[in-house]
Amino acid sequence: MLKRSLLSLSLMMSFSSFAQTLVLNADAAIDVKTGTVIKPVTIVIEDNRITTVSKTTKIALPPHAKVIDLPGQTLLPGLFDMHVHLTADANVHGYKRLARTTQRDTITGVMNAKRSLEAGFTSVRNLGAEGYADIALRDAINDGDVPGPRITASGPSLGITGGHCDNNMLTHEHSIVAEGVADGPWAVRAKVRENIKFGADAIKYCATGGVLSKGTKVGAQQYTLDEMQALVDEAHLRGLTVAAHAHGTEGIKSAIKAGVDSVEHVSFLDDEAISLAKQKGTYFSMDIYNTEYILGEGEKAGILQESLDKERIVGGTQRESFRRAVKAGVNMVFGSDAGVYPHGDNGKQFSRMVKFGMTELQALQAATINSATLLKQADKLGSLEEGKLADIIAVKGNPLSDISVMEQVSLVIKNGKVEVNNLK
Ligand code: ARG
Repeated sequence: MLKRSLLSLSLMMSFSSFAQTLVLNADAAIDVKTGTVIKPVTIVIEDNRITTVSKTTKIALPPHAKVIDLPGQTLLPGLFDMHVHLTADANVHGYKRLARTTQRDTITGVMNAKRSLEAGFTSVRNLGAEGYADIALRDAINDGDVPGPRITASGPSLGITGGHCDNNMLTHEHSIVAEGVADGPWAVRAKVRENIKFGADAIKYCATGGVLSKGTKVGAQQYTLDEMQALVDEAHLRGLTVAAHAHGTEGIKSAIKAGVDSVEHVSFLDDEAISLAKQKGTYFSMDIYNTEYILGEGEKAGILQESLDKERIVGGTQRESFRRAVKAGVNMVFGSDAGVYPHGDNGKQFSRMVKFGMTELQALQAATINSATLLKQADKLGSLEEGKLADIIAVKGNPLSDISVMEQVSLVIKNGKVEVNNLK
C-alpha cells in the first residue's frame, strides 16, 4: 500500500515537472450549471486539465506558465453540437449530391471539422455519414493529423427501405440503396452490430419521413415500434446512445417509448409526447435555425421543390413546438443539423433558441452541460470545473445579456491546447 502510494507520488512529481501551465485571465467566466458569473476570473490549465477556476487573486504561478490576458472576454466551456453532418456541403443538395463520392465528402469533412472548431464547437455528434467517413475523420482528428472537434460518430443512419434515411433519387433501374437500410427487428439489430463493428459510437435512425428526402411524408412514421425497440435495445446493450430523427407526432412518441436518448427535429408535438419525454428524460435536439437557410438559400443549393414545400409546413410549427417543450421543462440539447446549412454558422442558432423561449442561460446549458450529460461525458466535459478536460472558449462581451456574441468566438482551447486565437 505504502509502496504503491510512493510510486504514484513519484509519478505525479515527474509528471508535474513536465506539465505545461496555461493561465487565462478574463473579465468573467460562466458556471453553466448554476448561472453564477465569476468576475474577474483566472483559470489555470495544466496539460489538458483545468486545475483552478477562481476569482482573480494573486496566485503563485510556476515560472514557465504561459499567461493569456483576455480583457473584455467571457470564458465558457467548449460548445457541443449534437446534430451535424460534417461530410455534407451546404451548397450541394438534391440531385447535385449524386455526383459526390464518399472520398470527396471526407475531404469536405476535414474542412468542416476545422470550421466547427473555429466556431467554438469542441464536441460534435455526427449523425449520419456514408462510407463511415465520419469515423475516419474522428480518428484522423484524434491522431492529430487534422484539426477538429471531438467527434461522436454514428456511421450510416439506419432506416427503412425507401425512407428518409434511404436514397430515393433514382428510378428502380438505377436504384441506390443507402448503407444503413434494414427492415425488420433482426435486420435492424444486425445493422447496429455492423455499425459498431466499424467504429460507431452512437446510433442514428429515421423514425419518420423528412424534409430533404424525396418522396417521404414528413409527418408519417417509418420504423414500427417493434423495430425501434429492437434497435434501441441492441444499441444500449452495447453501451451506445441512440438518436432518432422524427418530425411527426406518432414517430416521436414511438421513439420515446422505445427508449431513445434523443429525438432530433421534433417538429409536431402534442401534450402526450411532451409528458412522455419528461417521464423518460428524453432529450430534444431541435434544429430551429435550419429553416431560414433552407427557405433562403435552399433552391440555389439544389434542394428539391417538394422539400421546399415541406419546409414551409415544418419550420414554423417546429419553432412553436420548441417553445412548448422549453416551457414544459423537457431536457434540451443544442442540435443544428449543420451540413444542411454551412458549418461554422452553428452558433447562429443560439439567438433563435432565445427568441423561441429559452433564457440565455438555458441556451448555453443546452450547448454545454446538457449535451455532455446526453453523451455521458459530464464527468469530464461540459462545464468549467477543476479536474475537467480543458475545452474552453472566449467570447467578447456577456452572452447572458446578448446571446448573439456566441456567433463570434475569439479563443478556442481544446484538450488544453490553443486551437484558435482571433485576439491577435
Ligand atoms: N434533415 C432534416 C430533414 O430533412 C432537416 C429538417 C430541416 N427543417 C427544419 N425545420 N428543422 O428532415
